[in-house]
Amino acid sequence: MRILSKKQLRGLLRLPGELRRRRRTRRRIAVAARKPGPPRLEPVWPLPRAPAGPSDAEIERRFREHLGWQYTYEFEGQLACAERHTAQPFGHRDGDAGRRAARGARPLQRFRHFMPWLVQAAGGTLCGRRVLDIACNSGFWSLQCALLGAREVIGFDARPELIEQANLLRTIVGLRNVDFRVLDFWDMSEAALGGRFDVVLNLGVLYHLPDPLRALERTRRMAAGLILLDTAVHASDAPLIRLDWETSEDVWSAAAGGLVQLPSKRSVELMLRHVGLGDFSEIPLRSADMPPDYLTGRRASWLIRIDNIPSAPSPDPPCSGYSAGRLRPGVP
Ligand SMILES: C[S@@+](CC[C@H](N)C(=O)[O-])C[C@H]1O[C@@H](n2cnc3c(N)ncnc32)[C@H](O)[C@@H]1O
Repeated sequence: MRILSKKQLRGLLRLPGELRRRRRTRRRIAVAARKPGPPRLEPVWPLPRAPAGPSDAEIERRFREHLGWQYTYEFEGQLACAERHTAQPFGHRDGDAGRRAARGARPLQRFRHFMPWLVQAAGGTLCGRRVLDIACNSGFWSLQCALLGAREVIGFDARPELIEQANLLRTIVGLRNVDFRVLDFWDMSEAALGGRFDVVLNLGVLYHLPDPLRALERTRRMAAGLILLDTAVHASDAPLIRLDWETSEDVWSAAAGGLVQLPSKRSVELMLRHVGLGDFSEIPLRSADMPPDYLTGRRASWLIRIDNIPSAPSPDPPCSGYSAGRLRPGVP
């Protein structure tokens, strides 16, 4: 008889709950898809390349210099550099081709899920906006915002090797409106980052921090207009927080190992109210073409309004983002 590992056993015990939540999500998607939503917005993908930028061979060489990449990057000219986790001692191992393809699709699915709501709330375009990308990793979201026409994007992450990756991508794409910095979340301040931002992205980092309440309060202080929050959540309908322990070896995880907290959706919403971020709406899933954690209630996203975002000044020269070509009004 084959003995199951603890991990397999936990997975088995979780299965009925996951199936129930999947069924509930399917029903919610059907309802949300019938309601009006923002126009569809596509990521700028594959990434464009600067005319005099590095060659294919140079890009591949520079990618190989880094042991782990969280995202697969595709570039114009049919060049793809796959995400890699071979150096990681736990968790996200490379896996088979199917798993790698699913992980490659993940940021694009997330983009199609929440970016249309953000861009709509920002007045239909990011042109002229100042954007902060907290815990930017190798800069996927910063690059997208810059390509969508944001006036200035600052992305920061605590891991210097990730900022090196982000700077490599910035060079390949040839963007001037993005600045990547090494900074720890808890050192984030208006003084460190030159004031507040029209749009703050707090994506995939809340559950890597020891104190989500204080983290949301810090995030609020950085935002003048909108916050996009996307986080793993504890899959419970009750206002609970699950404590966990994270080590820092994996580039996806906490920069400083130790206690982390995973709030349920209701806890996140109570915390948002408590820190003065009561004007929020959860972004509804409108497609089943999403990563499994979203479909099983283990991840959720919110759009949070700080203030009526003022209209952006007409940029001079006019906004050169991709937004005009990529927004498809009227297409749900
Ligand atoms: C799961 S990744 C999320 C990346 C990206 N924001 C996204 O949503 O796709 C978590 C990121 O948080 C960063 N991180 C973890 N703890 C941090 C801290 N204390 N300060 C800044 N960045 C941190 C990690 O280095 C990693 O890049």
